Amino acid sequence: MKVIVTKNYEELSRLAAGHVADLLKSKPDAVLGLPTGSTPLGMYKELIAMNQKGELSFKDVTTFNLDEYEGLDRNDSNSYYRFMLDNFFSHIDIDRNKTNIPDAMSSDIPKECLKYEKKIEKAGGIDLMILGLGNNGHIGFNEPAEYFAGITHRVKLHEDTIKANSRFFSSIDQVPKFAVTMGIKSIMHCKSIMLIANGKAKAEAIKKTIEGPITPQVPASVLQLHRYFTIIVDEEAASLLTKH
Ligand code: GLP
Repeated sequence: MKVIVTKNYEELSRLAAGHVADLLKSKPDAVLGLPTGSTPLGMYKELIAMNQKGELSFKDVTTFNLDEYEGLDRNDSNSYYRFMLDNFFSHIDIDRNKTNIPDAMSSDIPKECLKYEKKIEKAGGIDLMILGLGNNGHIGFNEPAEYFAGITHRVKLHEDTIKANSRFFSSIDQVPKFAVTMGIKSIMHCKSIMLIANGKAKAEAIKKTIEGPITPQVPASVLQLHRYFTIIVDEEAASLLTKH
């Protein structure tokens, strides 16, 4: 595990984008695992700028998003499909046929989840999984639980996640109660992982992720076991760490 502490969010975003760019320079057809949320927005902006300046190309890249809300139409402004289009895909030279997001509108979610896993396998696995972090230590939508969930599956969202994400919706009642997410096994199978987190609200979850015991109550803590795991945090998110 490699922990990098940056001065602020801007430096975090630049470093994270640099990490992605380094991979794409050595492997232009890399497979990326992508997160949503506010944390990766700065990184996406940096990557868009590099792409538009002609320094970096995504034309051979394949992507798999971590999760999607159940029951939101793709055109819904809160769907993660729309989020990815608006904040990343429509600004870069990626082939849209190579971008994948779980279809949480499917009438057969378990079948859709298996299909998603098979597609990841067929693409050769994910070279770099980029993760944000929920305030309660969740990754993707893998919520604190009694056990580590396996592959892509349907989840019931925790009250605190619904509350945290309600800032994007017109009211808390509009936040879906369920979602589809890659599981802990899907994430741990990725060849390398980079987690990014910023701000005071993430400090507790970062401490537990890095220095706490490995427990499904803090899903991100399992990442301590991954061989190629990098965490980039700003000073605020790192403020409770004692060993770094
Ligand atoms: C959501 C997403 C996660 C994301 C988390 C943190 O719950 N499912 O993938 O990491 O929010 O979001 P933010 O970056 O906005 O704090």
